[in-house]
Amino acid sequence: MNTSDIDLESLIQRILDTKKYRDSGLNPDTIRDLILQEAPRYQSSKKLLKSVKRKLHNIVAPYLGEPDYEILTAKLEQINNPSPESPEIKSFCEAVLAEHASTQERLPYMEDFYNRLFQRTGIPNIVLDLACGLHPLAFPWMGLPLSVQYHAYDIIQPRIDFINFYFTIIGLEPLAENRDILVNPPGIKADLGLIFKEAHRMEKRQPGCNRRLWADLKVETLAISLPTQNLSGTHSLLNQHRDLVHDNLPEKHVVEEISIENEIVFLIRKVQA
Ligand SMILES: C[S@@+](CC[C@H](N)C(=O)[O-])C[C@H]1O[C@@H](n2cnc3c(N)ncnc32)[C@H](O)[C@@H]1O
Repeated sequence: MNTSDIDLESLIQRILDTKKYRDSGLNPDTIRDLILQEAPRYQSSKKLLKSVKRKLHNIVAPYLGEPDYEILTAKLEQINNPSPESPEIKSFCEAVLAEHASTQERLPYMEDFYNRLFQRTGIPNIVLDLACGLHPLAFPWMGLPLSVQYHAYDIIQPRIDFINFYFTIIGLEPLAENRDILVNPPGIKADLGLIFKEAHRMEKRQPGCNRRLWADLKVETLAISLPTQNLSGTHSLLNQHRDLVHDNLPEKHVVEEISIENEIVFLIRKVQA
């Protein structure tokens, strides 16, 4: 279909009105981008919508589980000592992290994970947590000071609202933002960008999008983590994910690897002139 023949806003609304996305608070920029990307491949809006919904399903990953943010917010409000070191906050965060497959897998080795990561990158002052999911709830294990500017980006508004409330409660600035990082890459200069367990899905959304994003970001070090095994643990994804990183590496950048349990972190840095 020719994009000028499409009533873009009404197609976006049709998707947002479906049962699956009605109350999701999904960022319309993501849907708009998918419609524009998929339109040339289809002759009818019915087929186009079907394809966009299929892509959305993989991006939003509803099968990975979604907590009830109202209940979580109420629980957070009741915590007496909300500092990141407090056992009450830690057990709250652990329970939330256990609700998403990606963060749940990291639970047994979180402390080691951040120790090893920050040993190599240094302690950052400004962090961008890109496609963050519930990952900011791991802050109490990161060993970062509360003065850090922790920017977190996701495309689900209730998730962003919850993360900002949590940031405020534990003493961080509420810097979470509803932003599609592929449509609007953040322009903030930062010491460290994190793209944890999402680059492989983004590559499926739009082949080559990682290369553009990584080149656009104004971060000193970009840490891309990817799983080394599929979700059921039956086969290795290591070579495939190493290829993904090397194929998308911007010019004049180098890559180092840190292997931590079921995850491999690729540290991408500009070559110093
Ligand atoms: C598999 S979770 C990864 C969570 C986290 N990075 C981690 O390792 O625990 C993917 C998250 O990225 C978000 N996401 C996917 N595409 C995005 C995009 N283009 N911009 C911002 N967030 C995105 C999804 O909504 C979801 O919360």
